[in-house]
Amino acid sequence: MNDCMIIGSGGQLGKALTLAFRGQKVATYDSYELDITNRDAVIAAIRDCNPRFIINAAAMTNVDACEGEPDRAYAVNATGAENISIGAVETGSKLVLVSTNYVFDGVKPTPYIESDPVNPLNVYGESKLNGERLCAGVVSDTWIVRTSSLYSAWKKNFVLTLLAAVKEGRHLRYVNDQYSGPTWVEELAVGITELIRVAPPGTYHLSNEGSASWYEWAVEVLLAMKIDYPKLDAVPSTSFQRPATVPPNGVLMNNAAAKLGVELDGWKIALARFVGSL
Ligand SMILES: NC(=O)c1ccc[n+]([C@@H]2O[C@H](COP(=O)([O-])OP(=O)(O)OC[C@H]3O[C@@H](n4cnc5c(N)ncnc54)[C@H](OP(=O)(O)O)[C@@H]3O)[C@@H](O)[C@H]2O)c1
Repeated sequence: MNDCMIIGSGGQLGKALTLAFRGQKVATYDSYELDITNRDAVIAAIRDCNPRFIINAAAMTNVDACEGEPDRAYAVNATGAENISIGAVETGSKLVLVSTNYVFDGVKPTPYIESDPVNPLNVYGESKLNGERLCAGVVSDTWIVRTSSLYSAWKKNFVLTLLAAVKEGRHLRYVNDQYSGPTWVEELAVGITELIRVAPPGTYHLSNEGSASWYEWAVEVLLAMKIDYPKLDAVPSTSFQRPATVPPNGVLMNNAAAKLGVELDGWKIALARFVGSL
């Protein structure tokens, strides 16, 4: 029996979870090893692994691409998640599904708590919400962990894209009227290990504390990296035509996990630690 099966282990969070669970008996599945849209393969892999916990960190995460390929988005984020939950029932495994702040419409003027009504504005958010409902409907021991704006030293993300653009000397324009909580995956992964140790199944918000617009996040990255870069402007979201509608307020408040002592540090502190780790 394995302590934990990490599905989507090649992604940013999957890699961080693999690090966070080192020392325990862990089985990891990257996308080329297990396609979560293949129900039979998923059930066979879970049976083979027989894990105490399954963490589903696999998803179609490109929000604009989801808008153009809704069938694929639902197949991965909703049916794929459901496939894993069906496998979990067979082995009696507990399930962790990582979800998103984009289940909310962003019109609330303050950060979203776990019990706030959901109302996704885009295909990505809708498909992830479907995944949440399908999993919780199948496995009673499900932890849904909603998070926001993940970054890492791996894979494509806001911070790496910004640094690459700075290296190329490009003139940068970032939106200053959409907010979220930038979250370093390595701190989220540790938070998830703590959460499943102390918290009962349920829905939890876990991101680095505080909020930032895309522009404020970019400014802080450059500050932390000690890069003086004058070619950076703040612009309203109306300056860009994006396929997906992005909620203006994507800030999550950790209400439920904090009561059990599971909290992540402020996003600026985490970002400074991330920069120090590079
Ligand atoms: N990134 C964010 O800002 C953000 C914000 C809020 C919540 N989340 C949630 O946090 C979780 C982790 O996100 P992340 O940033 O680590 O994402 P990521 O880096 O894009 O990783 C997702 C992983 O899922 C894999 N995957 C995609 N389709 C699959 C399939 N059919 N079968 C198996 N694996 C598949 C991807 O493989 P390929 O690379 O081969 O496609 C990739 O390795 C996701 O549930 C996401 O919805 C992310």
